Formats: sequence, structure tokens, C-alpha cells
Amino acid sequence: MKLWGGRFQKTTDRLVEDFHSSISFDQRLYKQDIRGSIAHATMLGKVGVITEEEAKQIVTGLRQVLDEIEQGKVAFDIAAEDIHMNVEQLLTDKIGAVGKKLHTARSRNDQVAVDVRMYLKDEMNEIQALLKDLVETLLNLAEQHTLTVMPGYTHLQRAQPITLAHHLVAYTQMFMRDIERLADCYKRTNVLPLGSGALAGTTFPLDREYTAELLGFAQVSDNSLDAVSDRDFAVEFCAAASLIMMHLSRFCEEIILWATGEFAFIDLDDAYSTGSSIMPQKKNPDVAELIRGKTGRVYGSLIGLLTMLKGLPMAYNKDMQEDKEALFAAVDTVKGCLLVFRPMIATMTIHKENMAKAARGGFTNATDVADYLAKKGVPFREAHEIVGKAVFYCLQQGKALEELTLEEYKELSQVFDQDVYAAIGVEYCAAARKVRGGPAPEAVKQAIARTRERLGCC
Ligand code: ARG
Repeated sequence: MKLWGGRFQKTTDRLVEDFHSSISFDQRLYKQDIRGSIAHATMLGKVGVITEEEAKQIVTGLRQVLDEIEQGKVAFDIAAEDIHMNVEQLLTDKIGAVGKKLHTARSRNDQVAVDVRMYLKDEMNEIQALLKDLVETLLNLAEQHTLTVMPGYTHLQRAQPITLAHHLVAYTQMFMRDIERLADCYKRTNVLPLGSGALAGTTFPLDREYTAELLGFAQVSDNSLDAVSDRDFAVEFCAAASLIMMHLSRFCEEIILWATGEFAFIDLDDAYSTGSSIMPQKKNPDVAELIRGKTGRVYGSLIGLLTMLKGLPMAYNKDMQEDKEALFAAVDTVKGCLLVFRPMIATMTIHKENMAKAARGGFTNATDVADYLAKKGVPFREAHEIVGKAVFYCLQQGKALEELTLEEYKELSQVFDQDVYAAIGVEYCAAARKVRGGPAPEAVKQAIARTRERLGCC
């Protein structure tokens, strides 16, 4: 029987029944739905809208329904549409007429809004914890590689020498912003919509602050129309999730490159790579590729939600039922990717000697030769020109900059002296960039310490 059947003469078409039912996916919200209902009933009892005894019976019944769902004893009913009406139906089947009082001063519109917020708050906490583990892993790895020189790139062309630690700390900054972004989104998710009714509040004397306290919400919404039609928090989450995925995806792209025979900077652990069904020699970075690939799904959730919401008049519209699958997909994808990404990084083998070799090639110290001249008073623009010529000469001679003789250097500029060699070794070049935020070991160690401090604050 339909909980809203009174006004109808005909039954719902079979196709429509399937089409509009959301129980197949929103059953995931059963815990939140029951928790929200327990709080609502408790509050109704406290303010006297129902008796304390009725509230008690409802709460006991809801706890039994929860147990039965957890024990897998419940078959949800498509005809009851969604998790909210399924729970109410199960409750009434169990405790009889008093169960029908639960929906007093409430609508599914404020109910679904509170359920989704509760769900997302828990998931954001879990995602934050996964991100914190990842940052911790990257910082530990960085600590071991403050002297591991590698090329830094722009345009994927070798640019200047840096260290692996510096490169890893770059990613910790992205993931720290992700953690902080989630904390910010959490604040706006942590607002109680329950008590807004269908759209226009209720005539019953609810104690919404009490409900908020019972459910652990920091604030109570101040406009009933907005409260039932607001899904900004879901959009914000999907945007934050998209950025997490974008960061993971960029990192994965580098892992894929680094694992090639051409780079050979790293080897992925066997447990985090896969083989080919035809080519016996292959060891593929499938995990990194899949994370890169799954990024699109999360962007899809973000764009899907924004598009779904853009034309909706206030307040609730059924379009909004579409929010859940998009949100669930984003949550599952981000969590799944973070779970497998961290151990993949923690177990990879790092080939320091190949990184150093790559840093020594490609004239990554050319800027340092120009800086050497500039420090001796040559205007930087002129120094740039001189070193450009030096590189051209080296390319013709098949030499590196540090292999030119002092005579060859003098030929290019009289300013060059014996001390040029000490100033352009790649290890020195990385170590000399002591500016805050630079790759010098002391600077990176300070960045690591500051990041650890920041991590402790969130
Ligand atoms: N299943 C619905 C959803 O997910 C719950 C709210 C339905 N409200 C309504 N008036 N039809 O959005």
C-alpha cells in the first residue's frame, strides 16, 4: 500500500513504479535514515507532540528495524519507493499504529536532506583520514630523499635540478589543500535541515536545536525553502573530490612515466602492477592508469550535479533524487583510489642513480651558469645570452657544461674563473636553492616540518 495513496483512484503504472523508485541505491542511507528518525521521534516526545511513551515505542521499533537490516533479514520493497518510506513501513509493520505518528511534522524532503548530510559528513571524515595517511607517507619518503637529485621539468623538458624530496613535498601541499577544503565543506554540510517540513516549516512546536544536538549538527538552518532545496554541499564535495582526483591523476601520470624503461626512475612493486596476456616481458602500471582514468567519473558527478540543479525552481523537485548516485560514485571512487594509491607509492623502488644521471644531462645547470655570471656583475639578460651560446657549443662538441675547459669558458666570457665548476655541479645547484620553498635540503626539511605541523592542526 502506498503511504500517500489516499488521493489516488488508480495504482501506479508498473513502469513508473520502477522508474521513480530510488530504493535500489538509497538503501545505502538506512543507518542515517533510522538515526534521523530516532532523533526526530525523541524530540517530538520531548516537546509533547507525541507522548514520551509513544516516542519510546517508536525508538525501540526503529532500533529493531536497524538490527534486522544489518542482519540481512529485510527485503526492501520497490513499491515503497525509497529508504524513508521503506523504514517507516517496516516500523509500522513491527509496532502498529503508533509507527504512523513518526512522520508528524516532517517530510521526506527534509528527511532526505538530513540523511545525505549525515552520510557525507561521515564519508568526508574517512576521506580526510585517508588523505592524512597519504601525506604522512609522502613526508616520510621525502625525509629519506632530501639529497636524491633529479631533474625538475617544465614542458616535460629537463629544466633545473631539484630533489625527489622537493618533488614529493609538492604533492603534499596539494593534498593538504584537499584536506583543508574538505574541512571547509564539512562546515557547510554540518547544518541541520530537519524541521523544514516539505518546504514551509511546520505548525508544530519543534525543538530543532535539540534535534541538532542529538544528531551532532553544529548549526540549524534558517530558511525552510533553502534547507530542502540546497545541495550546494554535495556540489562542493564533488568539486573537492574532483581536485583530489586531479592531484592523484597528475601524480599517476608521473609514476607511469617514471616507470618506463626510458625514464627508469622507479620500479613499481609486483603487487601493484600487472602483466600482459600476450607479451611476457610486460609489467604495466595499471593501478596508476586506472586512477587517472577514474578521475573522469568524479568530474562527471560534479558536472552532473551542477546540471541537474541549474534549472530547478524552489523548493524540492524530484530531479534532486538524482543527487545520490552521483554523490555515491564520487565518494566510492575517491576512497577506492586513495586506498590503493598510498601503498603503491610506499612500496615502489626508487632508482636514485638514474635520477641523478638524468639531472646531469639536459643542461639542467644552465641557469646556474648564468646565475654565476650575474653574481659577478654581468646583467642577467647578457649572462643568459652567453650561456645560450655555451649550450649551443656544448651540443656541437657533445659535452656537458661542467666538461668545458676554463679556456673554452674564457672564450665565451672573461668573467668565468676556476670557481665556476664548484657552482654548477647538479648536487650543488639543488643545494644552493636555499630560498624558502626551494629544493635545498634545509629548505625542504623546514617545509616538511611545517607541513607536519599543518597536518597536526586538521
Ligand atoms: N527519494 C526522494 C529523493 O531521494 C526522497 C524525497 C522525495 N520527496 C518527494 N516529495 N517526492 O529525493
